[in-house]
Amino acid sequence: MESIRRSQPQDFDKVLSSMCTEPHPLAQEAAAEFLATNPGDPATYQAIAELETKAINRLSEVAGLANPHGYIASGGTEANIQAIHAARNRANDETASGQANVVAPASVHFSVNKAAEMLGVDLWIVPVDDDYRADLDAVTAAIDTDTVAVIGVAGTTEYGRVDPIPALTDIAHDAGAHMHVDASWGGFVLPFTGYAWSFADAPIDSMAIDPHKFGRAPIPAGGLLAREQATVDALAVETPYLETTSQATLTGTRSGAGVAGTVVAMEELWPAGYHQQYNRQMDNTTFLADQLANRGIEVVTPTLPLVTAAVQPATIEALQADGWRLARTASGHLRIVCMPHVSRTSLEAFLDDIDRVRPWLLVTADSLLPDTILLDVREGGGFLG
Ligand SMILES: Cc1ncc(COP(=O)(O)O)c(C=O)c1O
Repeated sequence: MESIRRSQPQDFDKVLSSMCTEPHPLAQEAAAEFLATNPGDPATYQAIAELETKAINRLSEVAGLANPHGYIASGGTEANIQAIHAARNRANDETASGQANVVAPASVHFSVNKAAEMLGVDLWIVPVDDDYRADLDAVTAAIDTDTVAVIGVAGTTEYGRVDPIPALTDIAHDAGAHMHVDASWGGFVLPFTGYAWSFADAPIDSMAIDPHKFGRAPIPAGGLLAREQATVDALAVETPYLETTSQATLTGTRSGAGVAGTVVAMEELWPAGYHQQYNRQMDNTTFLADQLANRGIEVVTPTLPLVTAAVQPATIEALQADGWRLARTASGHLRIVCMPHVSRTSLEAFLDDIDRVRPWLLVTADSLLPDTILLDVREGGGFLG
């Protein structure tokens, strides 16, 4: 216990890079209460099994699914892996064709690479359009008779974009492939937008939607939802030594804490609390984007609570050295995720620090220096790049 007291958990004040956040206080209490339960063994741990059914029902309400099937997974990674796993197994049953493949846009989360490698399916990654969304022509061109699944992302990890889900679903289904939507991050904000992303908007087959991100449940709590029970059944294996006879999850023992925390967070927040949270974080997003733009920084127009901007690597590194936890996209943009813990006060402090570590601001007002040149006045001159 002493070593834990000496090592405090993450303070969220300066965390601008994470897609996780502080769980709702009541969800934390619920998690503590159900720490020693295992929904992976539902006949033995019946109370948590019932709560898992409630969690799936509530998640399905968010995702517009009338007859829910699925389970509470460890996160978006597991849900994506299992969706592809089910698609591959179902296609094998039906077609017994050649080497299965999955088609996904370049914006897809890297969990899909893990899935492809583990499951022995090919992954055809296709380009995104100018607005970082799946390019429909490229998806169509990549599909062939061995395509078992198409993936669309509703809330991409890097730019917060929503792929054209109904059109992707049509393309997938025309090819006889499974349509999976990765709403791991976006699932708890998209209901308050005009995007077509859910089971109610298109006949999608499965979805990853994570309570442990915007849903304010404790980690680990992901969600795999399926339109048909057959998708879940395609994952089931026999479980000889348990009281139940089969299991469809990737992990065996699972977190009852995540399940109980999901139910309580959703009881507390769906829909009004999540809606307020979305409004607040979109206001913060717009504020940050405007403030960066006012400083002459090129900002990618945000559409969900996530801001990306062309900030010099040296500036990012200086901010990181000041304790800010920041991430970059693969193409080098600074990426700030406006999760519920990201307050206006913390964004103001961040902007103050940007002004402090971007010394070139002092010289650009009437100078001809291009944005790409940083004058390092802290070091007494010299160019940072
Ligand atoms: C769109 C998307 N899918 C999947 C994942 C993976 O989720 P997890 O880290 O909970 O496994 C993430 C993580 O940020 C994500 O942004």
